[in-house]
Amino acid sequence: MTHSPQTHLLASLTAYLQDLQESGVDGIPVELAAAATPAAVLQQNPSLKSGGNEHSEELQSVPEKHETLEQIRKNLGACQRCKLGATRKNLVFGVGNPNARLLFVGEGPGADEDTQGEPFVGDAGKMLNRIIAAMGLKREDVYICNVVKCRPPQNRPPESDEVASCIPFLLRQLNSVRPEVIVALGTSAAQALLQTKVPISKMRGKFHDLHGMPLMPTYHPSYLLRTGGNSDSFWSVWDDMIQVLRFLQLPVPEKSRKK
Ligand code: URA
Repeated sequence: MTHSPQTHLLASLTAYLQDLQESGVDGIPVELAAAATPAAVLQQNPSLKSGGNEHSEELQSVPEKHETLEQIRKNLGACQRCKLGATRKNLVFGVGNPNARLLFVGEGPGADEDTQGEPFVGDAGKMLNRIIAAMGLKREDVYICNVVKCRPPQNRPPESDEVASCIPFLLRQLNSVRPEVIVALGTSAAQALLQTKVPISKMRGKFHDLHGMPLMPTYHPSYLLRTGGNSDSFWSVWDDMIQVLRFLQLPVPEKSRKK
């Protein structure tokens, strides 16, 4: 039997809720009330209906519907769910085509993104734009977002509690856009989405399953800025993007590898 991406995503949301419950969380954050199809989440996980969950009624009354990105953004509001909220200038939600076939997920906003409220607009963004252009695509064709929506101080990787607060919103964005392929840029994005500690160098280069959606981990554009435009890692990213283009049945532009 085949399962739709939504079914897989719901199964994963259910597992996520179970993890929360097992780690002692006895209520579902109200933000999840508008998630994917929460009635189905509860149907698959009846224990969440009992157990003194104060939000169960709300969750059961939410109709099954396709959530728009605007609704998810509105639901985030002036988010202070984790400590990053206190130091950010702007919440960086995401940008691009709400019906994109290809979606890129980065780690979290840096200084430029924090100032402008848009993901990947600094130096790493310029590198990402180069990758997108080399693929024969435009930035407006794809959707771009991050694991965490607020800038971690000194651009440190997001901490696990920050990821835990933000990832339900990322999953909702994925379920709203329903891309055919997700590219996880760098360690934080790949590890957070695939819930693993495997190094990016071991994960990249092959598709992984994210709730029924194919996910290709690859090196972060910032890493390419450090290693250079003709480095092995640069060509590894290009090899990964070739796989993505082939999967999407899009033309693969010629790129000559300099010696
Ligand atoms: N690095 C990221 O991971 N995301 C951004 O938006 C910018 C830099």
